[in-house]
Amino acid sequence: MKDIFKKVKNKNGKIRTKKSKDNKIKLKSKKNKLKDKSTKKLIKNKKLFVIFSLYVVLLLIVILISFGILNRFNFKILKDGFNKENVTIDIGNVKNNLKLWDITINDLKSKNNSLIINIDNMKILLDSNRIIKNTNLNVNATYQKSTYDFIKDVDSYTIDFSNSNILEVFKNIEFSIKKDFIKNKNIDIYLVNSDELLIPYKTVEAVDNKVSIDWTKEFSNLDIKKIVFVYVPLNEITVANENIIINKNSSFNLETKLLPINCTNRNIKYSSQDENIAVVSDTGVVTSVAKGQTKINITVDNENIKKEINVTVNEVATSINVSKNAITLEEGKTSKIIATVEPSDAINKELVWTSLDESVAKVNSDGLITAVSEGKCDIEVKTKDEPIVSAKISVTVNKKSNEYSNTNNVTEPTYIKGILIVNKKYALPSTYNPGNNPTALAAFNNMKAEASKSGITLFILSGFRSYQSQVGLYNRYVSRYGAQVADTFSARPGHSEHQTGLTFDVNSVEDSFAYTAEGKWLAANCHRFGFIIRYPKGKESITGYQYEPWHIRYVGVDVATSIYNSGICLEEYLGI
Ligand code: DAL
Ligand code: ZN
Repeated sequence: MKDIFKKVKNKNGKIRTKKSKDNKIKLKSKKNKLKDKSTKKLIKNKKLFVIFSLYVVLLLIVILISFGILNRFNFKILKDGFNKENVTIDIGNVKNNLKLWDITINDLKSKNNSLIINIDNMKILLDSNRIIKNTNLNVNATYQKSTYDFIKDVDSYTIDFSNSNILEVFKNIEFSIKKDFIKNKNIDIYLVNSDELLIPYKTVEAVDNKVSIDWTKEFSNLDIKKIVFVYVPLNEITVANENIIINKNSSFNLETKLLPINCTNRNIKYSSQDENIAVVSDTGVVTSVAKGQTKINITVDNENIKKEINVTVNEVATSINVSKNAITLEEGKTSKIIATVEPSDAINKELVWTSLDESVAKVNSDGLITAVSEGKCDIEVKTKDEPIVSAKISVTVNKKSNEYSNTNNVTEPTYIKGILIVNKKYALPSTYNPGNNPTALAAFNNMKAEASKSGITLFILSGFRSYQSQVGLYNRYVSRYGAQVADTFSARPGHSEHQTGLTFDVNSVEDSFAYTAEGKWLAANCHRFGFIIRYPKGKESITGYQYEPWHIRYVGVDVATSIYNSGICLEEYLGI
């Protein structure tokens, strides 16, 4: 650096020397006033010489003065004057768009040196091995408020290469931005092309306050005229919602934004103050863990601004318990289902009831189910608010038992689960005429024999009845009581179990039979012989008939015992 300035001083010295020569020329002019006429021609020649000399001196003065003015801002490193290992040109605190230096080097590379040029706080390091003759190092460096829209008014360093050819000849170039400018670890680099278009390039981490760019790799084929370095400070961290109320086991994206949008440091860090309540991912997704409250901290690397987000985690429903999972209802009947949300402190306890087929069953907002018409459907109960949990109740709606199905075209007896079923819905063909079933009859006789050991006398009052005999019986009841009453205790033709040959009326058809020793014994023991009391007390709405303590039906010991133990009737056992 000192050498360079010496040259400048030396050149200024030369200028002063030329001025002293000028003085000599003035002295010579005084002497010329004492001219000799005999030597007139010689004098004339001398005059011409002096004029020529004056012209030459004047020209020299102009050149040297011009050179001196240029030297205020421009430096030229000459071949012979360069002899140091490293040349450092330090311009000092020159700022504000000045043309800082203009250097021509023709053999710097032979010294295998680096040329380091310090400009204000910026240092440009050039690889001298790459320098070619007449390389134009006219680089314009400025430190000022940026005028580019995206980074307007931000302190920036701009290196303008547009008047230089060094980008074509240098393979490596390094910019060191000294501490005064790098108040922060990271720095944004923007590029400017020949259309003055600002192109975001990248954010780099300054290592030892240096930002290195490998020119060959990064820009060799690009139209780059300027490089702009800036640090844009973070002003504010914003999120979509600063007070999050979140259900347990759910997630929420914080949607963090940094202002200004072009700020340099963008590495957002999240942390939860209590990870037992909520955790947060590296990308700002909050996931609740347990009921309670905590805060999420948001910070940005290398910035002092911090944001706290309040998180409230609510307990939520995990399941719904229902008082019955399945019900069977007769048309028009209702049943209330009690639904309980677990856990009890869940925030979403409000329930919504829905029938999946309202033509079969309806449900109101209290869980009261009304059977509409024969069929099956599910009733669903679920939470009104997220997270949705639900439960289902399977509803079977049976036809009103005292209503007959249209059985005109019955051609075959109906077996369900292997059991012949005859009731108001299922009829037998009129031609079905088997007589008493031998197995059933044998079972009855066994039972009779067993009962007699206890002093109980059982006998068959009415067994198999043909279709035709049921026609006469039913019609007599209708003529005496009317069809509506008759239908409560007498089967219509084709609908009587007596036509199966598996049924017996035992001892009496009086209601009082139930209170006799025989009636009691029959109720308590008939299942052991394969019989059930077919029309039990309390099941009238299902069987369609009044309680008949005397009417037993043979279904086999296993089924009879199962029905006896569960207290249900045959329709319920078969699920019809
Ligand atoms: N008493 C029964 C219902 C019948 O008539 O078959
Ligand atoms: Zn009977």
